[in-house]
Amino acid sequence: MRNDLSSSDKAARVRGMFSRIAPRYDLMNRLMTAGQDVRWRKEIIRLARLQPGARVLDLGAGTGDIAREALRQQPECLSVAADFTLEMMLAGQPRNLRGLVWCAADALNLPYDEHTFDAVVSGFLLRNVADLPRAIAEQYRVLKPGGRWVALDTTPPPQKSPLTPFIRFHMRRVIPFLGEVITGERDAYVYLPTSSENFLGAKVLARLVEAAGFQQVAFRRYLFGVVAIHQAVKPA
Ligand SMILES: C[S@@+](CC[C@H](N)C(=O)[O-])C[C@H]1O[C@@H](n2cnc3c(N)ncnc32)[C@H](O)[C@@H]1O
Repeated sequence: MRNDLSSSDKAARVRGMFSRIAPRYDLMNRLMTAGQDVRWRKEIIRLARLQPGARVLDLGAGTGDIAREALRQQPECLSVAADFTLEMMLAGQPRNLRGLVWCAADALNLPYDEHTFDAVVSGFLLRNVADLPRAIAEQYRVLKPGGRWVALDTTPPPQKSPLTPFIRFHMRRVIPFLGEVITGERDAYVYLPTSSENFLGAKVLARLVEAAGFQQVAFRRYLFGVVAIHQAVKPA
């Protein structure tokens, strides 16, 4: 995807892409990451430290895997799964859990009051939004003071690792091939490695999160450094 797309162009293309791959999205995730994505989602919720009665927002929830994980780890929380692609949320309905609330929402203009949530979490959202500082500012706004922010996303592959050629081969060849076979949507799985390689490095993203006002910003890399989980706290 080109970087000079206007915000509305990017949003429309991202939404269109996810609406087409929605039925096979989860299967592709399991295959591409050899099942590691399940472990990362558990870690996101562990880091969110949900207490009984907490409200958690899973933004860019897609089929709702993270929002469901929140209810598994803390059955007494209110878990809100929000996304702007209806087809992704519909694909998650057969695995609905009691207590899960679905919401159509744009990450750049959240329909919630400030200080609504105890935690805001996301998985593979940030790379896809048209205006990243605004998306982070919106998440900051709806978090309560002292609330926790946790985000999982890809990071550009390391430049100097001996594994880099293998990582690039997996991203540039294997993932588009699998995407075509499993979903019939090769373009979406060319977009994934391209947007990953062009996304901010983990340290740069951490600085952006700090600039938005968050404290205790930290991150950890996974899967040979191509995925990172960032966490931060809104000052109390
Ligand atoms: C890669 S999927 C991630 C789904 C899920 N969070 C996961 O962990 O698998 C990205 C999701 O972000 C959603 N998304 C992208 N931009 C968005 C925006 N501006 N507002 C709300 N959702 C958005 C897409 O519709 C898609 O469902």
